[in-house]
Amino acid sequence: MNDKRLEHINISAFQEDLLKWYEENKRNLPWRENNNAYRVWVSEIMLQQTKVDTVIPYFNRFMEKYPTVYELAEAEQQDVLKQWEGLGYYSRARNLQTAVREVVEAYDGKIPDDPKQLGSLKGIGPYTKGAILSIAYNQPIPAVDGNVMRVFSRVLHIKEDITQSSTKKLFEYYVGEMISKEDPSSFNQAIMDLGATICTPKKPLCMFCPVMEHCQAYVEGVQESLPVKKKAKKQQKKKYIALLIQNKEGKYIIEKRPDAGLLAGLWQFPMIPADEIVESDWHRWLLENYEVDAEIKTSCTAIKHVFSHIIWNVDVRRAVTNQETVSDSRLKFVSIEELKEYPFPVPHQKMIPFLEEK
Ligand code: ADE
Repeated sequence: MNDKRLEHINISAFQEDLLKWYEENKRNLPWRENNNAYRVWVSEIMLQQTKVDTVIPYFNRFMEKYPTVYELAEAEQQDVLKQWEGLGYYSRARNLQTAVREVVEAYDGKIPDDPKQLGSLKGIGPYTKGAILSIAYNQPIPAVDGNVMRVFSRVLHIKEDITQSSTKKLFEYYVGEMISKEDPSSFNQAIMDLGATICTPKKPLCMFCPVMEHCQAYVEGVQESLPVKKKAKKQQKKKYIALLIQNKEGKYIIEKRPDAGLLAGLWQFPMIPADEIVESDWHRWLLENYEVDAEIKTSCTAIKHVFSHIIWNVDVRRAVTNQETVSDSRLKFVSIEELKEYPFPVPHQKMIPFLEEK
């Protein structure tokens, strides 16, 4: 390893300055009330790709409903997805529940503190493993995500592209060298807080930084050009027609998405892929693909939703059918009241206000 980067750093002084700052400034967050491994685990899964402020109410509701691994293990997957509704990246919820069930069955409900066992659970990658082992079990293991890489790319002036997996390994090595062996729990959480409040992506507040004097990027005045991050590919755009299909009883057709892929296991209003099917074929397509005979009306709203890799542009239309039942196993007729019990992805939740009582 290229330890030249560590030559300029007094690691124990860095730890001391960081931990003192954390002690005085740590954010008051619900998962910090105690170091219970289950709470740490759930919070870390929710915090992936999602901001702290968004996560807090979800976390509190989740803990009320599923206070221990046992309640979560026994829950219906659809109820867990309903709790997750709006947080996105729903495979996180499905994997979490799968892993919690394994903890109950294989480990008597105790979340393993052994890195191999913990890392073999579904959805627990190196970051989550490090976060749980350090925060809950006080083991000196790095927990490196994008925020942590930003902080250390500056502190150690590392110019490697952080989108590369080899770069992540490099950071894991350096954090492993620098982490406090006395208080790894506070060390990792301090880095997270530093990244969130001071060492921000744009315009970092170096004047308030507790480790400014240790920061190699600050010394050279290059903190704002780090980390180096190769631009992600542009998202693919897809056009859909979403159909709010109502029958004479006032019920609407909803569809369960496949068990794998984007938004797996969630519910939606049926959608026609408008990039592939021209308007004159919509009716026939619906009949052939869903065995639904509906009259499609004019547009009532348009919804744009940006996922990590795809952008949906959805033209939402009301439609009416004479059917009282549906034969396709993906579909269901539900009242507006009933529909609210099902987990819907955000773009489809936005269509719910356009439903009309009969
Ligand atoms: N971001 C990711 N994990 C976090 C944690 N435990 N506390 C605050 N922010 C975080």
